[in-house]
Amino acid sequence: MRTYATVPELRVALAGAPRPVGFVPTMGALHEGHAELVRRCRAACGTVVASIFVNPLQFGPSEDLARYPRDLAKDQRLLEREGTDVLFAPEPAELYPDGFAARVDIGPLATVYEGAIRPGHFAGVCTVVLKLFHIVKPDVAFFGRKDAQQLAVIRKLARDLDLDVAIEPVDTVRAEDGLALSSRNAYLSPGERGEGLGISRGLFRARALFEKGERSAKRLVEAAREKGLAYDYLEAVDPDTFGPPAPGAPLLLVAAARVGKTRLLDNILLG
Ligand code: PAF
Repeated sequence: MRTYATVPELRVALAGAPRPVGFVPTMGALHEGHAELVRRCRAACGTVVASIFVNPLQFGPSEDLARYPRDLAKDQRLLEREGTDVLFAPEPAELYPDGFAARVDIGPLATVYEGAIRPGHFAGVCTVVLKLFHIVKPDVAFFGRKDAQQLAVIRKLARDLDLDVAIEPVDTVRAEDGLALSSRNAYLSPGERGEGLGISRGLFRARALFEKGERSAKRLVEAAREKGLAYDYLEAVDPDTFGPPAPGAPLLLVAAARVGKTRLLDNILLG
């Protein structure tokens, strides 16, 4: 695996790369969920490109940008092990030189749920993802279902702006106890981790009820609710629009909860 930190070097390295070129954008602090994205990319693509960039544009002023876990050498080992060909790991000034001011706004989907709690977050995500797509020029890009709203936002970005890249969703990878893997799980104390498990436990309870035939979104949401958990939201939504689910259509239960100082997200698709 070769690592590049600048756009011109990366472009030279990717000129004539075997197609399809697959791309796995990340912010590092890689875990098995990212490994699964790379494995899916490796299985489908002639060239596997990953990026590691802790994108300042998608963090709010009081969020965890400064303490976000960073360990490039460890991440490089994981990417190498999973068969990545090329890693792009730029510094912020490479993507955002002085005077950089552009923002990509994909409309109302970016302002509900995560977007309401983290104003500007999805504009930051869309801006960096669009830049990375222009730089890497992938045929396919892989995103985890764990960040379900991000996946919906990226799909809309690709559709609305006619991007010539296929967006491939990859299922959430969970720890044995059910907790959805996330780089931010590293912040949890053992007690907080136990508390955070309530999110997936609740979602699994709702899935069991759905499998028994329950179709009322309201009752499924109530089944998923764990007493004592500080939810930011727990709702049934349409997986593409994040509006109310249409009767009979698949519905996505989305949850975000605060455990100590950490926000945990999870979701489950029903139907
Ligand atoms: O999911 C992430 O790690 C980030 O939001 C992404 C897509 C790499 C953009 O910075």
